[in-house]
Amino acid sequence: MTDTGKITVKTLQKMKQSGELIAALTAYDFFTASFLDSAGTDIILIGDSVEMVLYGAESTLTANMQKMLFHTEAVARAVNRALVIADMPFLSYQTSLGDAIQNAGELLQAGASAVKIEGGWKFAPVVRAMVDSGIPVMGHIGMLPQSFNKTGGYFVQGKDEDSARQLMEDASALQEAGAFSIVIEKVAADTAAKITESLEIPTIGIGAGAKCDGQILVVNDILGLFDKFTPPFVKKYADLKPQIINAAKKYIEDVKGKKFK
Ligand code: KIV
Repeated sequence: MTDTGKITVKTLQKMKQSGELIAALTAYDFFTASFLDSAGTDIILIGDSVEMVLYGAESTLTANMQKMLFHTEAVARAVNRALVIADMPFLSYQTSLGDAIQNAGELLQAGASAVKIEGGWKFAPVVRAMVDSGIPVMGHIGMLPQSFNKTGGYFVQGKDEDSARQLMEDASALQEAGAFSIVIEKVAADTAAKITESLEIPTIGIGAGAKCDGQILVVNDILGLFDKFTPPFVKKYADLKPQIINAAKKYIEDVKGKKFK
């Protein structure tokens, strides 16, 4: 199923039903997105993590619609097969339903096929309004990077009974509101597994154990291109930083040594 045809929200639903796991990665530019698409990733997310991994910011809070639209356009141009999902940046969906629909619609006009927002049951009305306007929405629960000021940091969620129950309710409210999938970030593995079992829509985990319906990682992390900090759940599949530095050093040596022709 994953070797042919464009991935849609319906494909993801079928993958959950058949037990085929979903591979998702972030991308922010044309070339990386085209390489990931050729490799066969099912989802490419233009994450608001762009703000940290490409722009060097301390958090995702300063990502804005203008940047998300630029990066969405570049990624969407490159992708033939994967489902392209754009993250909605901080303050683009919290202020009013009208703003949420307008901003999500602009991300679709820039080439995304769906959007992602952070938050649990309180955001169910926002999900419902966007879905009713024809915009597929992915939810995001657990550790919410856009809310780190409220939570006091980037902590694992769902470790105790109350927090696990709350996450369960959040997930179910988002499904009820029409979300087609939910990212579960930094959540105790057994809680993420229970949420996954209880839902009809697929869950995509990041630091949430192996029992989700799929996994997502930030592409710069898996390629060794972001070393400011490395979350414990990240797996490095390549170490490109020294290769880039070596290539640049060789070029500089050639130029300075008058060997460059
Ligand atoms: O912004 C992002 O990259 C994300 C993923 C890590 C899920 O939200």
